[in-house]
Amino acid sequence: MAMTWYLQVLIVSVCLKQCLSQTLNQQICIMVPQSTLQCMKDSEISPTNPMFAQISCLQDLFWSLRPDRSLSEIDAEYIRNLTSTMSGQPIDWREHLGVSGQGKMPNKPNFLYPSSGYRKRKEFRLMTSTERLRFNEAMKRAYLDGVIDRFARIHASIVYFHYNGPSFLSWNRMFLIYFEEALRRYDPNVFLPYWASPLDNAMDNPVNSVLWTPAYFGNGEGPVVSGPAAYWRHDQGFLRRYYGRRSTLVTRPQIRRIYSKCRLADISRPTADLRNDIEYLTAGPHNWLGGDMNTYEYAGYDPVFYMHRAYIDYIWEEFREKQRVRCSVEPSTDYPEVPMASSHSRHARMKVFSMFTNNDGILNHWTNNWYSYENEPECPDCCPGCNNPAPLRCKRWQNACVSRSTWADGLIPSQVSVQSPTSVFQMPRNRGALFESTFGDGRTIYTAVEDALAAARNSQPDNSTIV
Ligand SMILES: *[C@@H]1O[C@H](CO)[C@@H](O)[C@H](O)[C@H]1NC(C)=O
Ligand SMILES: *[C@@H]1O[C@H](CO)[C@@H](O)[C@H](O)[C@H]1NC(C)=O
Repeated sequence: MAMTWYLQVLIVSVCLKQCLSQTLNQQICIMVPQSTLQCMKDSEISPTNPMFAQISCLQDLFWSLRPDRSLSEIDAEYIRNLTSTMSGQPIDWREHLGVSGQGKMPNKPNFLYPSSGYRKRKEFRLMTSTERLRFNEAMKRAYLDGVIDRFARIHASIVYFHYNGPSFLSWNRMFLIYFEEALRRYDPNVFLPYWASPLDNAMDNPVNSVLWTPAYFGNGEGPVVSGPAAYWRHDQGFLRRYYGRRSTLVTRPQIRRIYSKCRLADISRPTADLRNDIEYLTAGPHNWLGGDMNTYEYAGYDPVFYMHRAYIDYIWEEFREKQRVRCSVEPSTDYPEVPMASSHSRHARMKVFSMFTNNDGILNHWTNNWYSYENEPECPDCCPGCNNPAPLRCKRWQNACVSRSTWADGLIPSQVSVQSPTSVFQMPRNRGALFESTFGDGRTIYTAVEDALAAARNSQPDNSTIV
């Protein structure tokens, strides 16, 4: 394909003078493929805005020129080191690797128990302040060491192998196990928290959630400059978020539909109905948070990504429990039939974590011996042991726990000043493919203020908390 690309190449100078001449006083000459030229030509008659259309052509072009992001030998060595630590016994990697990673697994350890000990994962807001502090500190060290960068690239590298099929959940579980182990190298007491986004979705408008303040996730609008990931960078600049533009967080009806199903095939692609599709549900918060989180390539740079994915893993675990109890299906043997050659087939090796097959991810010992989940909070005690003001409270008339609103603290949301989407144009950034888009429910950052006011007006038993 590289050949065709070059055969089609014309040498053209694309003058970005408009953007650059004031500062750099130079032209940028690049090799442009025929498809880009056609795109530029078509954009001249664009019914919307020719300039935006042209920028979009260039964005595609730059994307196709992006550096190769396949994993390096150092990344592979890092994962091998981590695997050895996790197994608690030496692994003969020469035998394991064989020819291009296709060798047998002669001495595969059983990984039945974690050498770093059992841990219990909790909702982020239910961590004690010490737990949260230690987690944030381990994340920070991982960021400074380039470990976050490594995991972000690992995630980006598997998009064509472990999305869009039944190995999605299995690989996601293994990815989080590795990530949690990586953090536990910095602090053996750290565990991975999860972000139960239905707690925010049940608010008047999730943009108003206390999560988007420095004490929790930091700001949700623009470059991240507050909270634990303040000023984190990657090769495209600062970590960014543009929350509340589209899609929704995970909703309780979505979860109920998933829990009403019996087989992994019922919630996995390609067999699942869209309404029970775990990948569709997963894409929601990616789109809702926007910015880096909305791209496969850069999502892994945001700490929120790991906590959202841990919640997906939590939903799967609840689903597995219901399979056992309600459907008499044993989840450790329930895997859809997939053609052998597919990266989703049951016995295919996982990409990156090649010590494991997709089947290994569905075994029971991970959540029996390695980790388990503390339940999502339920009314009436939504925040046991929390200091005041508690980040979660019980919305009695809905019998649902909801996140604290910044309005309750008298904080006027910053989004009052957010400009309408048509008046702001953000320079496209070279961040690659987006998560598929999912439906929203009409509540956006632009309605956050009126949603909060309406909720305050309408609230019946709850108005004690809205000052
Ligand atoms: C892997 O472990 C070896 C031995 O402890 C160490 O020398 C090496 O730097 C590690 N590699 C990576 C990428 O962490
Ligand atoms: C809620 O606020 C309204 C308006 O201030 C008031 O009339 C109503 O009694 C309040 N409800 C409760 C349960 O306090």
